[in-house]
Amino acid sequence: MFKDQKICFSGVQPSGNLTIGNYLGAIRNFSLYSEQYKTFYCVVDEHAITVRQVPAELRRRTYETLALYMACGLDPEKNTLYVQSHVPEHAELAWILNCYTMYGELSRMTQFKDKSAKHADNINAGLFTYPVLMAADILLYQTDVVPVGIDQKQHVELARDIANRFNSVFPDALTIPEPIISKSGMKIMSLAEPTKKMSKSDENVNAVVYILDDKDTVIRKFRRAVTDSDTCVRFAEGKDGINNLMTIYSCFTGKTMEEIEHEFDGKGYGDFKLAVGEVCADALAPVQARYTELLADKAGLEAQMKRGAEEASYYARRTMSKIRKKIGFVSL
Ligand code: TRP
Repeated sequence: MFKDQKICFSGVQPSGNLTIGNYLGAIRNFSLYSEQYKTFYCVVDEHAITVRQVPAELRRRTYETLALYMACGLDPEKNTLYVQSHVPEHAELAWILNCYTMYGELSRMTQFKDKSAKHADNINAGLFTYPVLMAADILLYQTDVVPVGIDQKQHVELARDIANRFNSVFPDALTIPEPIISKSGMKIMSLAEPTKKMSKSDENVNAVVYILDDKDTVIRKFRRAVTDSDTCVRFAEGKDGINNLMTIYSCFTGKTMEEIEHEFDGKGYGDFKLAVGEVCADALAPVQARYTELLADKAGLEAQMKRGAEEASYYARRTMSKIRKKIGFVSL
């Protein structure tokens, strides 16, 4: 193996409207991995076209997503940040891995079942082989760890199965990746239905706080958050709404549940909700300012995309030349 450093890879959809759930559960932690790993974070525009896209919007969201991740603290000096379609080896490896992935395996993927129900008029082959492209993303970099939300765990497990199958034919070809499932991220719930995960595609805008929501909006959404008929701020079974607000408050302030209970002892839900709204808005303000600044400099973002793609390509080419040889393609 050619690695002297452990590799961390994750992919992010080019979608501008990320939530505080994405921020607290995933993005904020992404920058921590660069201390221990060589990190690759890829904006997956090729995955995006498995459902219909408006080209101008896809392009705009690709810039926005890169800017947002950088604004959330991902330093391009310490992390390789790039766009999937700029490194053609992703699609190339995906084709090869398609031939080592079984129809039955792909039919069992829950995301495929969900998405084909949702887009019944467009169940294209790309939607079906989406997990193979994702496996290619990961395996192309000989990745050791993949930080993802719980909903992507099944896909990372499939990537492991594909890699193991490939290695059983071609020994030592691919590193077997491990998923790292973020804990806090899956605990950020909808403000309207606190037994449901906060989802960026929720139809009820009051259920979701977006990273780019302004202060008034953030405060208003928290003020409307569903709680319970009790009056006391404490973390307990059956108090899903308050538990969720306490989790959010704890994520932004670093305080423990006991400390929060103490702080709001004798105060009502109104005061507590306002406090949650304020810490959240205050934490998001610098991210938003930086985002606006980055997005205004399109040439700067393009230079970053280029640099990222060059860095990524170096690793991608190494894996591909090894794989081409192993499979029996003629090298010139
Ligand atoms: N499928 C992932 C999602 O929807 C995005 C993704 C694409 C990804 N390729 C990846 C995540 C590789 C981790 C590793 O969130």
